[in-house]
Amino acid sequence: MLSGCDGRHNWMAGAGEESAQVKTLFIVLMIGAGVIWSAVVGAAIYAHKRGAHPNLEREARQFVIWGGAVLPTVLVGALLVWGLIILRDITADDGDLTVRVDGERWWWRVIYETPEGDVITANEIRLSIGQRALFRLTADDVIHSFWVPALGGKMDMIPGRETMLTLTPQTLGSWGGLCAEFCGGAHALMRFDAIVMEPEAFDKWLAEQAEPAKLSADNPGFEVFQAEGCGACHTIRGTDAQGPVGPDLTHLASRDKLGAGMWDMTPTNMARWITDTHEMKPDIDMPPYPHLNGARLDTLVDFLMRLE
Ligand code: CUA
Repeated sequence: MLSGCDGRHNWMAGAGEESAQVKTLFIVLMIGAGVIWSAVVGAAIYAHKRGAHPNLEREARQFVIWGGAVLPTVLVGALLVWGLIILRDITADDGDLTVRVDGERWWWRVIYETPEGDVITANEIRLSIGQRALFRLTADDVIHSFWVPALGGKMDMIPGRETMLTLTPQTLGSWGGLCAEFCGGAHALMRFDAIVMEPEAFDKWLAEQAEPAKLSADNPGFEVFQAEGCGACHTIRGTDAQGPVGPDLTHLASRDKLGAGMWDMTPTNMARWITDTHEMKPDIDMPPYPHLNGARLDTLVDFLMRLE
């Protein structure tokens, strides 16, 4: 029951302004519920001990009106107002940075809006500490839910609609993000890292992500990539590979994880991802390439691991 209260998905960590607000709301609700529960049980015990008595009718009516109608109305009304204020704050349509995230089956298309244009990446979100980021969320074909428990609230991603959420990280580190709405076969394997960086490091990272891939197109690994048809689904900016279907791979190796936040970005995992794709992540659209092996596979993996 307490597995969400520790580690990278710790919603009690208060690593963001929004999650700290949610935590305070939760604590106040729990204390309030405890006090009310004790009062109700106490009243029941008192009534049982005192027993029925005709002279008590007026007193009992007053008790029902104040304790049963007025008090709950005031308390629940106050909580509602407070909850709405928090909801307004964490879904407000403003931020120092705008990031569009599109839920796909089962990965995340991530687009940073910058004055120079869109910067496209996938399956990893980086944020600058103290900077309020506005997330504009949507989904491709089924409903997903975007959630970084340590940083803030969770928000549904709905096809054909745009929902909004803000995250203002206050603690450096790599926090875990996940899909919190059952969305089909690989739902449980739909994750991402949310990495909070110092402002200078973040600006440098974003500038690097905006660049095209540094490799020359006559790279032998790129030849395998194109011969196997990978470029029909994946884009590597600066090359002929311009497929719009799967994650953008321009700076694939700069990400910490592989397979939408699931496995460490290592050559071994990459080779396995290519040959045993559905063993690692069942149901996904990417077909496995079991016929790739030996030098050809090594060349392809080496090429992908250089896409920094
Ligand atoms: Cu996407 Cu669950």
